Amino acid sequence: MRDVIVAANWKMHTTPADAGELARIMAARTREPGVTRVICPPFVCLTAVRDALAAADDPADIEGAGGIQPAAVGAQNVHHELAGAYTGEIAAPMLVGLATWVILGHSERRRDAGETDALIGRKLTRAIDAGLRPILCVGEQLDEREAGAAISVVDAQLRGCLAGHDPVTLVSAGMVIAYEPVWAIGTGRTATGADAATMADAIRRSLTELGWPDAGDGVPILYGGSVTSANIGEFLAEPSIDGALVGGASLKPDELAGIVARAGLTARARGLAS
Ligand code: PGA
Repeated sequence: MRDVIVAANWKMHTTPADAGELARIMAARTREPGVTRVICPPFVCLTAVRDALAAADDPADIEGAGGIQPAAVGAQNVHHELAGAYTGEIAAPMLVGLATWVILGHSERRRDAGETDALIGRKLTRAIDAGLRPILCVGEQLDEREAGAAISVVDAQLRGCLAGHDPVTLVSAGMVIAYEPVWAIGTGRTATGADAATMADAIRRSLTELGWPDAGDGVPILYGGSVTSANIGEFLAEPSIDGALVGGASLKPDELAGIVARAGLTARARGLAS
């Protein structure tokens, strides 16, 4: 049974002074049985968010509350080396104790930091070695979709990022794939649920060809790109889509609460909660 996941990517928003309070509000307003919640703030806010979530979602308080899992903390990136002369960078071992998840290969990093599939593959190794659960982002540009190349672009990204990785290790690390069409990120424009499902099926076909156990069936696939409380239902209605990676809407408590509430319905329908 795959997890139903809502991951909040706060990108370059919030400060250490306000992130904790926002995390506390988010945690309290998104308690849905069977839904895995992850908040990914900027590096400098990880401590504040970790502490706020630990206080808000004390296991002693939510125990017995019908399968509510404490909200988790994720980082938005990690360096591909373990340590060294890399001014301004953060290595995976530095995140231990601060975060349990990490977003890798986000299109904004591919665009702004020149991250390649091979580099993202090295980050994947570092993340897993540090015990972080990776959310690997893939997705095509608009011209690629219009040229009918969306599936082959995502297939090539997967092959590039996953080359040399042992599928069984990545499955045990709980790797998640986020399909984020680049033209849908922050634009208010989304793929359709059917487009996302077609891509999720294609991703699982690629994983099968790459030797994944059970035809990639155990890997959660999220949709990302202008997800809101109003459109999340269209994606979660697709059995192959297991949740969302949410940017802009994840900074608005009403929006995130609505998205997680809809994910709660899916978790119940899929037997993850009663
Ligand atoms: P968006 O961002 O929801 O603001 O489009 C999604 C993402 O970049 O992960």
